[in-house]
Formats: sequence, C-alpha cells, structure tokens
Amino acid sequence: MDDYNRREFLKTTVPGLLGVMLSLPSLCAIATRANAYQGRLKADQSMHWEAFLEAVAKEAAKQHLDRWNEEDYLRKIAVLTQSLYLEDPVISQAMEKVSARLKKGWVDFHDLEKNLDFAVCLLQFDVNEEIKPHNHPGMTGMILCASGEIRAQNYDLYKTVEEKHIAGARTGKYLLHRSMDATLRKGDISTLTSRARNIHTLKATQVTQLIDIFTPPYNQERSEKSCWYELDEVPVSGSRTIYEARLRE
Ligand SMILES: [Fe+2]
Repeated sequence: MDDYNRREFLKTTVPGLLGVMLSLPSLCAIATRANAYQGRLKADQSMHWEAFLEAVAKEAAKQHLDRWNEEDYLRKIAVLTQSLYLEDPVISQAMEKVSARLKKGWVDFHDLEKNLDFAVCLLQFDVNEEIKPHNHPGMTGMILCASGEIRAQNYDLYKTVEEKHIAGARTGKYLLHRSMDATLRKGDISTLTSRARNIHTLKATQVTQLIDIFTPPYNQERSEKSCWYELDEVPVSGSRTIYEARLRE
C-alpha cells in the first residue's frame, strides 16, 4: 500500500491512520526519490553524472540474465549517453586533465568509472593518432564522440586461414570482414558486441574526445585473451570488404 491520495487521507480512521504511520518510511522513500529526480535532470533534460551512472548500472546488471540482448542494451545506453550532461564537473574536470596531457602525443585514457559490471572511460586522440585493430573478447562496447572527428572501422572474423598455439602464445592468419566504416562527429555513436563488430580500429582526423562504456570491463582474463591485428591495406582480390590479417606480437 504505497500510494495515497488526498481523499484517502481525509477519510482515514484510527486503524487507517496507524496504517499510514506504518507506511511512512516507504512514503518518505518515494518523496526522496522524487526530490532526487529533480536534481538529476537539467532544464534541457540532460542527465547529471550520478544519475547517468545509476541508469547505466541498472541496465548493465541485466547482462547476468540468460535473456540479455546486447544490441538492445547498446541502444538503451546509447540514448543515456547521448543525454549525458557533458559539462558535469566529473566530466569537464577529466576533459581538462586529458587536455593538459595531450602534448605527450599519445592516445590518452582517463577512467571515469570502473566496477564489476561496466567501465566508463574518457579517451583523447591527437590529430592522426590511432588505435590499431584489436578485439574485445566477451565484451560489449559503446563509444560516444564527445568532440572532434574520428574514423571508426569495425570487423568480424570471416575465416581462420591458419592458427598455431606455441607455448601459450597464439599466431595466425585470418580474413576479417569490415562490417562498419564511419566517421564519428560530436554526438555520434559506434558500438560492438561480443558477437558482432567486435574488432575495431580508430583514427582521429581532429583532436577528438570519446566516452566509451565496456560491459563487462577489461579484467586480467579478458585482457590476456584480447589481441591486436595487422591488416593489409587493401582488401583481398575480388572483395571490397574482406582483409587479410595477422596477429601482432
Ligand atoms: Fe577498443
């Protein structure tokens, strides 16, 4: 009995009043949530950082369910991320830190959140900086372009040509199908799942800042399973989207 209206209060008898008193903690909780909600959304409906994290956590927790659908999940967190208030102090302070380190000339990372279910990271690229093709074993990923311009290409394993395991190390030759090729600008999203578009590469054409969410996040096992590829510059003969690739050391 959580919901009360004015009429129910007016006709409340002594036993009813006792019921209301017993329910006061839940009434207070409802009021608290309502007040918190007022503080979570700005006038333009963008979400504050804490509200955003809470909403993503709620969705990410569903990864443990048998019926979890990665593409549905990505659609939901993409909407949440596009609603994120990027001038929130947590984000703007992280942006300032990576900007100050830009002169080092490396792709720069800054963890905004990391827990057992997901991780949110801010990345900054200088002009022409790139991340070579790599995979994300068992992971779902979403990237929001917060500023700048960057080319994102995703690949799927099309065929294993040859593969060897020597002393725990894997070498091999593969054919990868390029399943996505897009230029991301402010507000654009790129995604991958554990089964589709799982290999990607990024190269910035402007100074670019990205916010990515990986679900689940990297841990030691997933880091050890991940690998880097060296792709031919041109597709194999007779194809426009299939590239030969070798594992990088
Ligand atoms: Fe990646």
